Amino acid sequence: MTTFATTDAIRFEGPDSTNTLAFKAYDKDRAVLGKPMAAWLRLAAAYGPAVTWPGKDIFGDGTLPRPWLGPGQEKAEAKCTAAFDFFARLGVPYFTVLDLDAMAEPSSLAEHQANLGRIADTIAAKIEATGVKLLWGGANLYEHPRFAAGAATNPDPDVFAYAAAQVRFMLDTTHRLGGEAYTVFSHREGYDTLLNTDLKAELDHLGRFLAMVVEHKHRIGFKGPILIEPKPFEPLKAQYGRDVVTVFAFLQRYDLLKDVKVSVEVNNATLAGLDFEHEIASALILNVLGSIDVNRGDPRTAWNTAQFPHNALDLTPAMVLLLQAGGLTTGGFNIDARIRRQSVDPNDLVVAHVAAIDVVAKALLAAEKVVTGRRLAGLKAARYAGWKEELGQAIATGAFTLDTLANLAITRKLDPKPVSGHQELAEAIVADQ
Ligand code: CO
Repeated sequence: MTTFATTDAIRFEGPDSTNTLAFKAYDKDRAVLGKPMAAWLRLAAAYGPAVTWPGKDIFGDGTLPRPWLGPGQEKAEAKCTAAFDFFARLGVPYFTVLDLDAMAEPSSLAEHQANLGRIADTIAAKIEATGVKLLWGGANLYEHPRFAAGAATNPDPDVFAYAAAQVRFMLDTTHRLGGEAYTVFSHREGYDTLLNTDLKAELDHLGRFLAMVVEHKHRIGFKGPILIEPKPFEPLKAQYGRDVVTVFAFLQRYDLLKDVKVSVEVNNATLAGLDFEHEIASALILNVLGSIDVNRGDPRTAWNTAQFPHNALDLTPAMVLLLQAGGLTTGGFNIDARIRRQSVDPNDLVVAHVAAIDVVAKALLAAEKVVTGRRLAGLKAARYAGWKEELGQAIATGAFTLDTLANLAITRKLDPKPVSGHQELAEAIVADQ
């Protein structure tokens, strides 16, 4: 039944290999700045996009050969086997999963709990057998019609309670499966029109919901962070967690910074009109970086196309920041990407992941060269050198008031001239690797 059992385990064959089912750059044990590549990247494949998504879009039904899709426990078990055959052959250390990606579809909340428990038994056995670990789990609080007006931000408190039940089940399950983080999905937390939306009430309810999740996490002794994936829009016109800084402000307002971090996705960053490296830099500065989704969008489509990364240069600037920061402390690089609807060859999914992992590895190797070359760091240090000198230090430490500083500027007859930012040089240093 599974289409992946026939695929040999993916191995590293080096840059000269022409085998599409081998790694050319991802060599998991290779040391990068003293740490194995695998430890920097903590790669994860995503259960839902890999084996549950049937290849449907808003204009048409599923196209992909997924014989394990369908109602009932037997199909769910077959799907789980396909998923772990795939993860194990790919050789990724982690997977990510949402409740409904894996379990048999329930017809009631009680059945939801029972079905989730049943598939969790199977997943636990697969984790044990393959050694592929759970990076994070989450609950699908967006697909069912009951969540059309949101989950935690729904005007109906019954929906809030239903979502709370789903999250409690899945947080417990994630804990049981040894998951390292828990993601609260907020795809329906936002609005299509403010005319019918009580913005303050919805934000307060979302804050309450997350506070309850955090309280439960501590109650059961779950050590990992709770993650939120910033996303500006789509499916909604406006989503409350539009980008990293917006989520940070939300977490600060509702006193959640100690337990909740962000999962930065390349595609969501670009949809928000921001560079991926901007989102990584912001998350690092604000100390909220929890994990990364490495799927990208299409530069000409204002839509989350969730494609596999195909250009290392798109990821290198962010990777430089990560290397300089010492890497991720939680989470990993989750390949939350979907093959295209025409990719009906069973190998397409494997080829896509292998190529994506190589792109991420190439970005890591390029970033290593940038960091060890020290030219970019030198350029930046030279640019801000004045702040290390007397005047800069005095301003930064608060030795001046606006008045005394103005007087100094007048007395010294300051007349600063433009200095080159060397942007093209900086870009050349990164592109050169
Ligand atoms: Co994502």
